[in-house]
Amino acid sequence: MEQPAINSPENDFYYPPPDVVSMAHIKEYEALYRRSLEDPQSFWGERAEELEWFQKWDQVLDDSNPPFYKWFPGAKTNIVYNALDRHLKTWRKNKLALIWEGEPGDVRTFSYYSLNREVCKFANVLRSMGVRKGDTVTIYLPRIPEQVIAMLAAAKVGAIHSVVYGGFSVESLAERIQDAQSRILITADGGWLRGKVVGLKDIADEAIARQATIENVIVVKRTGQDIYMEAGRDYWYHDLMSLPISSTSCFTEPMDAEDPLFILYTSGTTGRPKGILHTHGGYMVFTYTTLKYVFDIKDEDRWWCAADPGWITGHSYIVYAPLLNGATSFMYEGAPNHPYPNRWWRMVENYGITILYTAPTAIRGLMRFGDAWAKRHDLSSLRLLGSVGEPINPEAWRWYYSVIGKDNCPIMDTWWQTETGGFMITPLPITPLKPGSATRPFFGIDVDVVNEDGHPVAAGEEGYLVIKKPWPGMLRTLYRDPDRYREQYWGKFGDMYQTGDSARKDQDGYVWVIGRMDDVIKVSGYRLGTAEVESALVSHPAVAEAAAIGLPHEIKGNAIHAFVILRAGREQSDKLAEELRNHVAHEMGPIAKPEDVTFVDSLPKTRSGKIMRRVLKARALGQPVGDISTLEE
Ligand code: WTA
Repeated sequence: MEQPAINSPENDFYYPPPDVVSMAHIKEYEALYRRSLEDPQSFWGERAEELEWFQKWDQVLDDSNPPFYKWFPGAKTNIVYNALDRHLKTWRKNKLALIWEGEPGDVRTFSYYSLNREVCKFANVLRSMGVRKGDTVTIYLPRIPEQVIAMLAAAKVGAIHSVVYGGFSVESLAERIQDAQSRILITADGGWLRGKVVGLKDIADEAIARQATIENVIVVKRTGQDIYMEAGRDYWYHDLMSLPISSTSCFTEPMDAEDPLFILYTSGTTGRPKGILHTHGGYMVFTYTTLKYVFDIKDEDRWWCAADPGWITGHSYIVYAPLLNGATSFMYEGAPNHPYPNRWWRMVENYGITILYTAPTAIRGLMRFGDAWAKRHDLSSLRLLGSVGEPINPEAWRWYYSVIGKDNCPIMDTWWQTETGGFMITPLPITPLKPGSATRPFFGIDVDVVNEDGHPVAAGEEGYLVIKKPWPGMLRTLYRDPDRYREQYWGKFGDMYQTGDSARKDQDGYVWVIGRMDDVIKVSGYRLGTAEVESALVSHPAVAEAAAIGLPHEIKGNAIHAFVILRAGREQSDKLAEELRNHVAHEMGPIAKPEDVTFVDSLPKTRSGKIMRRVLKARALGQPVGDISTLEE
């Protein structure tokens, strides 16, 4: 194996400051990691003992029917019991659970006591609307406290929540409602973004017209403009919350550890989005433990995960893990540079944020405005930083480390997925870091890089990133589609979970994630599928066929580029290209809007008719197209 050059990131170690190490929950990695792999059941059993259960498990892991693993079978709990009820019995009752700042500058705070009251009230509203254990509730809200309240209230009554990101649009929402078969939709009149109102209710009305399951809509008043309210179908949240039924005490439904907690739709290789299903027990133990050990959560911390609750990062690390740990979480509604590029840094200073967890795209976006905006603020409260969503380029890493962290805050670069529930490959605060590497696997996580035949590749070589043992936070199935679950994740290597990412391990065993090997594109850290963009394009009357690919973009990481064959009789024009871009934004959401649309007469396809996006991508980048023996033309 060739040794990396002296100045390469692979030899560029950053060591944690002594005070971070001395306060860390975990002071030694190797021995505990080895033990956690040799005996994952006792490792996870001990972690589970730190939480409360109505009834203990018969066994920690039931692996008798792979890949349908069960964690803590026989146990009864409810994640909300551990996230809220448990803390009300302690001094944390009066501790702040959530500090929220709206984009216009309005602030709301909730202690554990007051958050629990809101959740209880809303849980009673849901019960009074007939929501029962096992029902699905779709939540389509901006980044406001009601989003957290709605998720917790649904889980409290035993319903399954399906949160649709507030940046998604008509077709994405309709499809997700339909697949989840929700009767209830929780939305808002709108949300604030860059000083403008995003009219969520208008989008929701259009989506409801395209599906057949919604009976009632609960609408939070956030932005206050006039909206359409359908009599008998639509109700204001604040009206329901002030009804006499909404008493502030409410029973937390005991759930089997393996009962579903939520579905979160995410883009896969082909076709429609997949409903990733997570459960009360295993997901709870996993998110609780990962946040505690990786970000070293302490009672005096002010934790800020700058994601959106509409994605897995927000589910796990805005909503569930911080509350399970009894932490104080900060949440912000709007854009990072509104009204000025110091918005985030001002909030770090104002609230005394101690840990900031965000995505490389946000770091690159703020870095572009220069150092002065951050330097105007006192950021000395920060102790740890975090990154998630895509590989972080060493340049952004070093800026984050020196300008934001003042060379004093280790960066936890956490690799994980919607499917994994929580952090999988990640440093701990004690880990020597290398910029751009997510470093080593978390406890109990058996990671490898393998070739086409499933054999481990040599250090330094690129291969498929796989996980060789089940873990508590893993998805249990795809909602109503177990065959697709088996085929998608376990089809290629049998008993190894296939992540869809490529990676390599270096001479120190550090993992370097390279990126997706399938048709998933990470745009600004958001996970989108080429298939969804293509079907949005084809739903336009001018389009006969379409292909979408991701190409590198300085800030977004990747950007979507579309290739379109028009129907006979339609003329190519800049105006039509613009119309198609807007059409995708209207159907899927602004994040999916292609950078450009190129009109073509044909698309490279295999003989069986599959579009070879790889060929389009190589051509666009001026690279060799590789093996095209299966190409039809
Ligand atoms: C990518 C987000 C490199 C990866 C939590 C993965 C990363 C996909 C990292 C999952 C990281 C996430 N370094 N790549 N630290 N974190 N990814 O489901 O390609 O939205 O497969 O979950 O994001 O995206 P998802």
